[in-house]
Amino acid sequence: MKTLIQNGNIVTAVDNFTADVLIDGSTIAAIGAHLPAQNVDKIIDANGMLVIPGGIDNHTHLDMPFGGTTSADDFESGTRAAAFGGTTSIVDFAIQTRGGKVQDGLEAWWKKADGKACIDYGLHMIVTDLSEGSTDPDKALASMDSVVREGVTSFKLFMAYPGVLMVDDGTIFKALSQTAKNGALICMHAENGNAIDVIVKRAIAEGKTAPIYHALTRPTTAEGEAVHRAIALAEMAGAPIYIVHLSSNEALEKVAEARDRGVMAYAETCPQYLLLSLEDMEKMPDFEGAKVVFTPPLREKWNQEKLWEGLRMNTLQVVSTDHCPFCFKEQKELGRGDFTKIPNGGPGIENRLQLLFEHGVNKKRISVNRWVEITSTTPAKMFGLYPRKGTIAVGSDADIVIWDPNQEHVLSAKTHHMRVDYSMFEGWKIKGNAKIVLSRGEVIVDNGQWKGRAGRGEFIKRATYAGAWK
Ligand code: URP
Ligand code: ZN
Ligand code: ZN
Repeated sequence: MKTLIQNGNIVTAVDNFTADVLIDGSTIAAIGAHLPAQNVDKIIDANGMLVIPGGIDNHTHLDMPFGGTTSADDFESGTRAAAFGGTTSIVDFAIQTRGGKVQDGLEAWWKKADGKACIDYGLHMIVTDLSEGSTDPDKALASMDSVVREGVTSFKLFMAYPGVLMVDDGTIFKALSQTAKNGALICMHAENGNAIDVIVKRAIAEGKTAPIYHALTRPTTAEGEAVHRAIALAEMAGAPIYIVHLSSNEALEKVAEARDRGVMAYAETCPQYLLLSLEDMEKMPDFEGAKVVFTPPLREKWNQEKLWEGLRMNTLQVVSTDHCPFCFKEQKELGRGDFTKIPNGGPGIENRLQLLFEHGVNKKRISVNRWVEITSTTPAKMFGLYPRKGTIAVGSDADIVIWDPNQEHVLSAKTHHMRVDYSMFEGWKIKGNAKIVLSRGEVIVDNGQWKGRAGRGEFIKRATYAGAWK
């Protein structure tokens, strides 16, 4: 099957030019002006459109047991929603259960994705227990090497959620030392979980149980301190580190300081931190604030422009979603009367490109090239997918979005494709949307119509971080 995309404005992280793109099977075969249309099966007229590499969301939690329930999108509904918003690859987080084997966590996630994923997916591994329940306190270090060989080339560790996912500094240091050797990348949830736990217990004892107290009991200093500690441990181990869902200026400053010294410290933020604030949460009546209960929490509004500045200055390299949806009516409800029981997470997999186009590109906070870079190219480079994904180049997978920069639409739970009963951005007006989405050469979204199918998405064996930068 040959497809010719004609006359689009091709936008990559570095280029912006008008040309045709010829797709042969699943990959890009040629890029040039006026490519011949004979022997082509399908022509897509992209006049007036941007032609961009498909988005890569390297931080999603599909079908994840968490907070006494399971995230509402599975691999089918979540990847389908991603595609509608122009995202053509995800990297989801598999979990090693406490006392369980790392390999078992990986196999559990393959099962969840099998027959369901609509777009290509990679997996990170959340490591919770280096002993894997055995008498060998470091058994999982070898298991980390073995999953890296299977293409799971990044891990997530938690400095928060004591008793659930949190690991201590010794474990973090050992894991970082292992990735210094095997070339993988550690993603860190950086908040001081032990201190937060004390503050939370005090709040509950004082009868402060409403959703807003979730945010008020997780100070920015708890994030800044953990980011600093995580980077220091990485520096000692001689390994790179990637801070996930960075939310505050205090944390950002720690990354900037390390990067200024040449430390391999990287960080992502998410649309919710760029666009929503603690002040917005305070205005939400009754139990509505549960809709924006996630960790780290929303911050005071002034932090937002600092994060945008961080994106411009490359202190932040990536915007992911941390998509972890829980329905308001049935799941967030678990924490009515006790904010500690509200499942932590929010929906966003569908709206990342749209929100950043409207509030980044249209509002002139970032260039259109930087938009592509932070949503596709750098995630691909950072997580070992480049150049197969993350750019428009001959030989790359034909994961391509025909983006209409002028399409006006309104975000709403009534029309979105995520399997969740609310939107964090209900009623927000956006100019710019994915019109046609191709995954490995196949049109999967065509003018708002679903053309893909469950199970067509493939597991991507990723290169190591070290390999990706060779
Ligand atoms: O609240 C959040 N962020 N939920 C998802 C799990 C995590 O920490 O990333
Ligand atoms: Zn996290
Ligand atoms: Zn997350």
